[in-house]
Amino acid sequence: MNIVSASVLVTGGAGFIGSHLTEKLLEMGANVTVYDKFDRYYEGKEENLALAANSRNFVLVNGDILDRDKLATVMKGTDIVFHEAGQPGVGFSVDNPNITNEVNVVGTLNVLWSARTNGAMRVVNASSSSIFGKPQYLPLNEEHPKSPTSPYGVSKLAAEQYGIAFHRVYGLDVVSLRYFSVYGPRGRPDQVVHRFTQSLAKGEPPVINGDGTHTRDFTNVDDVVSATILAAEVEGIGGETFNIGFGARTSINELARRLIIMSGMEGKVVARHQGGSKGDFPDTQADNRKAVRVLGWRPKIDLEEGLRGYVDWFESNVEVAKTAS
Ligand SMILES: NC(=O)c1ccc[n+]([C@@H]2O[C@H](COP(=O)([O-])OP(=O)(O)OC[C@H]3O[C@@H](n4cnc5c(N)ncnc54)[C@H](O)[C@@H]3O)[C@@H](O)[C@H]2O)c1
Repeated sequence: MNIVSASVLVTGGAGFIGSHLTEKLLEMGANVTVYDKFDRYYEGKEENLALAANSRNFVLVNGDILDRDKLATVMKGTDIVFHEAGQPGVGFSVDNPNITNEVNVVGTLNVLWSARTNGAMRVVNASSSSIFGKPQYLPLNEEHPKSPTSPYGVSKLAAEQYGIAFHRVYGLDVVSLRYFSVYGPRGRPDQVVHRFTQSLAKGEPPVINGDGTHTRDFTNVDDVVSATILAAEVEGIGGETFNIGFGARTSINELARRLIIMSGMEGKVVARHQGGSKGDFPDTQADNRKAVRVLGWRPKIDLEEGLRGYVDWFESNVEVAKTAS
């Protein structure tokens, strides 16, 4: 499917990943409508679209994916849907499982139904590595057993399953991408890279939940955007799922160590530890070979380069750095 001149709808396009995706799609020549309710989970989303708003091919609709009538109105004439709207946060889902379910499961069902009834050709659905839960082996390939350890993971798995069912039952081309720990400029304030960098900018030690030995496959947002666009372009992959992670794993202690050095705080602060978070899982690492083989995806930005980019962005945007609600 050709992105150039296509009419695309980005749900959640004002968010972290959605806003980067929107910028890239506009740069490629697509006509982009962002549909976002500017959820108050964290502040500052309006600024995320500052660059996109300069484009003649950009339309912003303030709307909720739970509002089926409004969604149907914006869906008309859409060729490709990038479904990035969601209620993120493993910890948030532990305290608010109903909200997480409503947005991630019912909301996704609404998006799929609307896409199907209004003739969209493809839906690329943002899924998550959280669907796997505690790993039985690493790296995680697509077939690894799914046993989510949080309401968030359950909601993303249910949404993904709806996508597969919509492909089987209605022939809608739905492709789900399981993103692994995405980080980069404009990252969400509840995410570990942002939290550590913010503490260090204030001269405070990063606070690690648990002993910090758990590992994550940190994946730069630019690489995630390129995978997401390929998932719309490649033909014949309706009903498929892909693991979208860089393919390495780094402990949270190591992440803190690198950010301390990059922030120039070595010898001035030492990371602190507090109790672990409920719903968290020990390790993630993507086996991304299916994405490499089928999508032709090549993640390019390793953690060292990506973190440097993040810290640079943070330092020049510190006045707009967001605080978690
Ligand atoms: N960031 C990550 O590491 C990561 C990892 C795996 C999966 N994901 C998934 O990727 C997607 C984007 O994540 P993100 O990190 O950019 O989060 P984000 O919170 O920055 O973006 C989500 C966007 O969705 C919007 N939104 C929330 N509820 C909505 C609703 N009911 N109707 C319309 N818009 C709504 C929010 O306003 C926000 O702009 C989510 O589905 C998330 O679950 C993210």
